[in-house]
Amino acid sequence: MGTSAQQIHDVVGIGFGPSNLSLAIALEEHRANSSARPVTAAFFERQPAFGWHRNMLLPSATMQVSFLKDLATFRNPVSRFSFVSYLHSTGRLANFVNTQTFFPTRHQFHQYLEWAESSFADRVSYNATVTRIGLPPEGASGAFPYVQVEVENGDGTGTRLVNARNVAISTGLVPRLPEGVERDERVWHSSEFLEKFRRMAPGELRSVAVVGAGQSAAEITRFLYDSLPHAQVSAIIPSYGYSVADDTPFANQVFDPAAVDDYYFGTARTREAFWHYHKNTNYSVVDDEVIRDLHRRAYDEEVAGVKRLHFRNLTRVNEVKRVGQETRVSMESLLESGPQELDVDALVFATGYDAMEPSAILGDLDRYCLRDATGRHRVERDYRLVTTPELSCGIYLQGGTEHTHGLSASLLSNIAVRGGEIADSIVDGRARADG
Ligand code: FDA
Ligand code: NAP
Repeated sequence: MGTSAQQIHDVVGIGFGPSNLSLAIALEEHRANSSARPVTAAFFERQPAFGWHRNMLLPSATMQVSFLKDLATFRNPVSRFSFVSYLHSTGRLANFVNTQTFFPTRHQFHQYLEWAESSFADRVSYNATVTRIGLPPEGASGAFPYVQVEVENGDGTGTRLVNARNVAISTGLVPRLPEGVERDERVWHSSEFLEKFRRMAPGELRSVAVVGAGQSAAEITRFLYDSLPHAQVSAIIPSYGYSVADDTPFANQVFDPAAVDDYYFGTARTREAFWHYHKNTNYSVVDDEVIRDLHRRAYDEEVAGVKRLHFRNLTRVNEVKRVGQETRVSMESLLESGPQELDVDALVFATGYDAMEPSAILGDLDRYCLRDATGRHRVERDYRLVTTPELSCGIYLQGGTEHTHGLSASLLSNIAVRGGEIADSIVDGRARADG
């Protein structure tokens, strides 16, 4: 994608995962339905090609959201970028319906995302990492109507500055490890799982352990057990067993577009109640089907009188050390006295993610962004950071807004609607500026 140094884009998107893909679709549909000057957009993605959590595309892993919560349908049910439209274009609509599911495999949803992404090749640069957002030289008025996005080219050809009137920061979740734990060739975070797993010869893995009791941990434990028929597989679980993700109809309402308003305009107590009562819709929980799959394997072992699937319940990992070729895990169990140790050939930390945090990319610009009493960024209902008047361009967040917009901030549930709201805000802002 070409951008000239002088050009000022209406919007620059940082990251090209589902969130910015959804925004690109909303802008495209706005262009198709309006006689106004088209919004110019450029997106920068650090991966070499489109990829949605590729290292967790495990066989049989399914979506945790209905396919109707795709990139567009909730905003525009007749969008040509819907999942149904994708099925139709691949000739699989009838047979998909025969599967009678709301939850396609992640593999299929990835195909859908790639299909949608292929319409935006002219607007996306891959191998392009945004390192920070800066300011242009100060104008006479002392105000900054646009910003400069610094993009590092992955091919080693240096950096370039791209001018933008609006920026959408959509860089995704940040992998989290327990304090002091360092990754290496034998110690992995779930976000790098398949890549690291494929580097090992199966015979090298005679004993493996997975840390955590969330969806990633359960899926990886099942995968390792099935893929390594001679290996000992340990699951290090902080709870007494996996807990189910509540996706029953009333609880699922927390992900509805209307819940964003209830959360955003609610009091501190309202917001606290959302988390208190409904955290188990998403965090440290597992789909019923995966829990049952794992339990069946454990029970079959009991019947057969062999045991290579080991659950270490009420146990947390404290420390990891390399001992020769092996990795030594130190744990604290609420069921055993004294520290516990386990030597493994590979250790997977499925210990979750931190929310997107824009401060590093904002760099010096952060001092124009206002914060609330607890030090978190203030964000408008339209996902725009609240800034001081000098910064008149819009900095929008897709992610990292759990404190203002609620539980769906990092999820797919609301991306179609959110992308539309941001697109509208950008278009309205431009109309006001044009007078
Ligand atoms: P996402 O992380 O997908 O994309 C961000 C992109 O920004 C990445 O491609 C990254 O490379 C790029 N990037 C980061 N920094 C950059 C920089 N400085 N410069 C340029 N590019 C940069 N939710 C849900 O509702 N249903 C589900 O089924 C699932 N399933 C699921 C599976 C797994 C394994 C995980 C870990 C998470 C989920 N989620 C989920 C939650 C997940 O956050 C969601 O599916 C989307 O990935 C959110 O899309 P985003 O585009 O916001 O982030
Ligand atoms: P998660 O839900 O945050 O779970 C992290 C787990 O690690 C928790 O059980 C946590 O326990 C545990 N943990 C943290 N530190 C630990 C320690 N030192 N020792 C032992 N355990 C420790 O993370 P996730 O499973 O990666 O899920 C993240 C998101 O990705 C969710 O939205 C999930 O739905 C999504 N996801 C989706 C799919 C899919 O679509 N198929 C697959 C994978 C993930 P505590 O809670 O006690 O700290």
